[in-house]
Amino acid sequence: MKSCKRMDSSAPNIRTITVPLEPPSRRYSAMIGSGLLGALAAYVDRLQPRPSRVHAIVDEGIPSVVADDRLERLRHSFVVSSSTLQPSEEGKSLQTVQAMLVDMTRANLERGDLVVALGGGIVGDLAGFTAASYKRGIRWVNCPSTLLSMVDASVGGKTGCNLRIGNSLKKNMVGAFWQPSHVLADVELLRWLDERTYRAGLAECIKHGLIGAQAGDDELLPWTAGVLDRLSTRDSAVLIELIARNIQVKAKIVGTDEREEAANAAGGRALLNLGHTFGHAIETLPQVSPTSVKELAPLQHGEAVALGLICAARCAELLKLVGTGLCERVRHVLGHAGLPVIAHNLPTSAEVLELMQGDKKTSGGKLRLVLPSGEHQCSVIADPPRHAVLEAIDAIRA
Ligand code: GLY
Repeated sequence: MKSCKRMDSSAPNIRTITVPLEPPSRRYSAMIGSGLLGALAAYVDRLQPRPSRVHAIVDEGIPSVVADDRLERLRHSFVVSSSTLQPSEEGKSLQTVQAMLVDMTRANLERGDLVVALGGGIVGDLAGFTAASYKRGIRWVNCPSTLLSMVDASVGGKTGCNLRIGNSLKKNMVGAFWQPSHVLADVELLRWLDERTYRAGLAECIKHGLIGAQAGDDELLPWTAGVLDRLSTRDSAVLIELIARNIQVKAKIVGTDEREEAANAAGGRALLNLGHTFGHAIETLPQVSPTSVKELAPLQHGEAVALGLICAARCAELLKLVGTGLCERVRHVLGHAGLPVIAHNLPTSAEVLELMQGDKKTSGGKLRLVLPSGEHQCSVIADPPRHAVLEAIDAIRA
């Protein structure tokens, strides 16, 4: 990580960190700081070639005082059009992509123009995919507004949407690898997040900690566990370091396996799916709740990942990839982070396993699970024994 010059930040004593990302298809950097978004127009102005038109895709959950001000500053230098999205898994659809493509066509965006995403993971995934599709691909800048998207989804270039087939919602079934030209993570935006959504992002941080040794940061998990109390107060300096370290872990992995093509033994980008095969299945069950309060269903993505991490740790114990005790340690740190460690209204484990088998990461019809296999490291396990997966799901049963 290198510190860089402060740019129009509203918090003068807090440093900005730049993390370079160098996947084969495009080099770019992620800047993490406080008040960075105030200089969005200046960043866009520096892109080469300079765009003339900017299409902003904005999460309607961002207070208009923030979004309108940033768009107004862009309007001083560019022709700006916009689409507003209400993020939801149901709305993360090809219909939404189509509507944005129509907005961009009506705004006469050309190939040298730019999409700016301002929102959480769903908005970033949709905006990136729309940018990838429009005129076979135009540049985009991602300004994540949630902790989850800052530490994970905003970098690495996975873009896309869900596919509904009858009653089943196939998560991220359609998409493209399309790297942004720049990522601006402004921790000031995290002040607007509700507590539940904020904490959901910590699940991806704990996931990165569990694979940290394979990405040059074997201290990430203990460090994260040690700063959880400061993170509760949304301390900007700690958040900036947290986000930068997480992006750096991801940058290292994506730099060597951008398109998730590494063989199972090598792990590669698939390691980032730790907890996700369990989590995606649980997440698509509308009745599953993080507490006994039914109204809190469905789970948020990060909450489902937290529960998936517990299942993965338990599965690894049952397969003797790690010693007994890891599952309880993972449960403890997730609980301390304020994340759910028990799923309420979970159907039978066989039903969850059936959903997992529909995951797009199956290979030859066989499940592939990323499981802990050592101190802060994981492995891809092809076709794990059914009994172990079923018993692992029971580890999160109320
Ligand atoms: N969030 C997993 C990945 O980007 O590969």
